[in-house]
Amino acid sequence: MTKTLEEHLEGIDSELASLILKISSIANAISNELPYRRGKANTKNVFGELQLVVDKWADQFLINELRKSGLVKTVASEEQPDLVKLNEEGIFNITLDPLDGSSNIESNNLVGTIVGIYKKDLPTQGKHQIAAMYILYGPVTTLVYTAQNGVHEFLHTKKGFVFREESIKLPEPGKLYGIGGLRKDWLPSFRKYVEELEMEGYKLRYGGAFVGDFNQVLHYGGLFAYPALTTNPNGKLRLLVESNPISFIAREAEGASTNGKCSILEVEPEHIDQRIPTYIGNKNLIEKLEKILR
Ligand code: AHG
Ligand code: MN
Ligand code: MN
Repeated sequence: MTKTLEEHLEGIDSELASLILKISSIANAISNELPYRRGKANTKNVFGELQLVVDKWADQFLINELRKSGLVKTVASEEQPDLVKLNEEGIFNITLDPLDGSSNIESNNLVGTIVGIYKKDLPTQGKHQIAAMYILYGPVTTLVYTAQNGVHEFLHTKKGFVFREESIKLPEPGKLYGIGGLRKDWLPSFRKYVEELEMEGYKLRYGGAFVGDFNQVLHYGGLFAYPALTTNPNGKLRLLVESNPISFIAREAEGASTNGKCSILEVEPEHIDQRIPTYIGNKNLIEKLEKILR
């Protein structure tokens, strides 16, 4: 019989298992709302980006439900300017990208939710995560998590989230790459590196949702980047809520991450809304890239 997410979590710390299950049920509720909450909110988040109704709703819904769970002390969310205190007795501190890839809502392309889980106070280095997960609202809603026990994937069905694949590793050699930003704004050394990737047979696939663009690297191997830009040396992605959880999952799947100098997981955050050049993928690709960018 197919294992459910709940059964798969039996081996891990029971409070962490409850938290992951709680987030899975919230994500499922978010997925059910996607056909309905499609408009613009006409407000901006701390990054100056226009918010959608669904960005704000998903943020509030996650925060309220996590508050009710009693498990969470503090949340850092992409849609909140400051840390949000939930329960003094909470055990976990959490980072949230409630809806990743919101510019894909209009066209009905991939979107997702990204979560980093810590016991240490935020902000702190990504290497202190104890677990990380994402939910991808694709043709099928999938959930990927690691609690430092490998990377595992589940499919949403009528029976809830059921097991699809265990201990996923980035395949070698990789097949794909997906890179954000305008090519004319990439650093010349990076542009050359990407040309070499193409010569080696890596194919371009870029969807504009970090969750989806990383998920294809997890399954097919290769490289995802939202690189340093001549116009924006820190790139676009947010260290706490985006790059750290995905880097943590990549490392557990035997991949690697870098900001061009060191693993993203080693970077000490200076503030909660810090951006970081983000390169994630197969270890050999990241090692070669670091040599070029350092
Ligand atoms: P969000 O929707 O949470 O603001 O994230 C958008 C991010 C990320 O999902 C993706 O990698 C990138 O921005 C897409 O940016 P471009 O539109 O510049 O490609
Ligand atoms: Mn995002
Ligand atoms: Mn978002």
